[in-house]
Amino acid sequence: MDAEKFAEEKITEIKEEVGKDKIISALSGGVDSSVCTLLAHKAIGDRMKVIFIDDGLMREGEPREVQQIFADLNIRVEIVDAREEFFASLQGIIDPEDKRKAFRNAFYTVFKREVLNSEAKFLLQGTIAPDIIETKGGVKTQHNILEQIGIDPQKGYGYKVLEPLKELFKPEVREVAAAVGLPEGVAQRMPFPGPGLAARIVGEVTPERVELVRKATVIVEEEIVPLNPFQAFAVLLSDKGTGVEEGKRKFGDIIIIRSVESRDAMTAEPTQVPWEILLKLCKRITTEIPEVSRVAYELTSKPPATIEYI
Ligand code: XMP
Repeated sequence: MDAEKFAEEKITEIKEEVGKDKIISALSGGVDSSVCTLLAHKAIGDRMKVIFIDDGLMREGEPREVQQIFADLNIRVEIVDAREEFFASLQGIIDPEDKRKAFRNAFYTVFKREVLNSEAKFLLQGTIAPDIIETKGGVKTQHNILEQIGIDPQKGYGYKVLEPLKELFKPEVREVAAAVGLPEGVAQRMPFPGPGLAARIVGEVTPERVELVRKATVIVEEEIVPLNPFQAFAVLLSDKGTGVEEGKRKFGDIIIIRSVESRDAMTAEPTQVPWEILLKLCKRITTEIPEVSRVAYELTSKPPATIEYI
């Protein structure tokens, strides 16, 4: 693929399809939605409104960081605080697919409101090929796949969806990112799922449980990211494990460390993390997050497991 040619073609297509209308971009800061946003900005400039929905499920400091990266590219990003709405919609839900559906509904409800406020006719999304393949194949419900599963966003939500990257796989998206001038940090960013940290929580998603897995994620990223894995993160299980504290039994949380190597996320292998790093991770997580009494490293490939936990 010629990444520069691809970018030029998509910019022209977006110009033609959108005409004089307005776009709203669902930016998450990941490489997919960042590339889309930059392509559309090159196509129609300020007729696109860029929104970052703070769903409360992002990594530490992420909303402001994304806003700053785009400010440096002269693109204004508005942060929409929808944390309460997302937590309310996820309350009491345990089943992984129900969680994904609740997330998707909250996502589209917030976006519909934003689209109506902005008079945009188009919603720009960073959907890529594996999202469609896996949703159609029944592996999981992606929050951003509607048309492909027979839900018409025009009828259901009142707007059209633009998905300029839907034929590409991750490595190609990264090539386009570099070609259009996104900073290296964004172009090479680890994938982060649409449902955010909710994809890494087994059992109910509450603000407290998200905070716990967020803290563990910071530690995992600090320690493992220098190994440059495809993806590395922490997962919070719903069960408790027995621990000892000051000579007494206590039931603490269980954190799983997951790090994988992959090309396009369709298959994955566990990273061969050096033992010393694993021990250091365990020590840091149990010390810095006292609620945690056990830490384990995940060894399962994809398949049979998926990368995320829901
Ligand atoms: P799984 O867990 O299915 O994940 O092996 C494959 C890749 O996709 C990411 N992922 C998502 N990305 N919305 C996204 O934008 C989602 O709902 C979603 N679920 C998983 C995951 O992080 C991995 O890179």
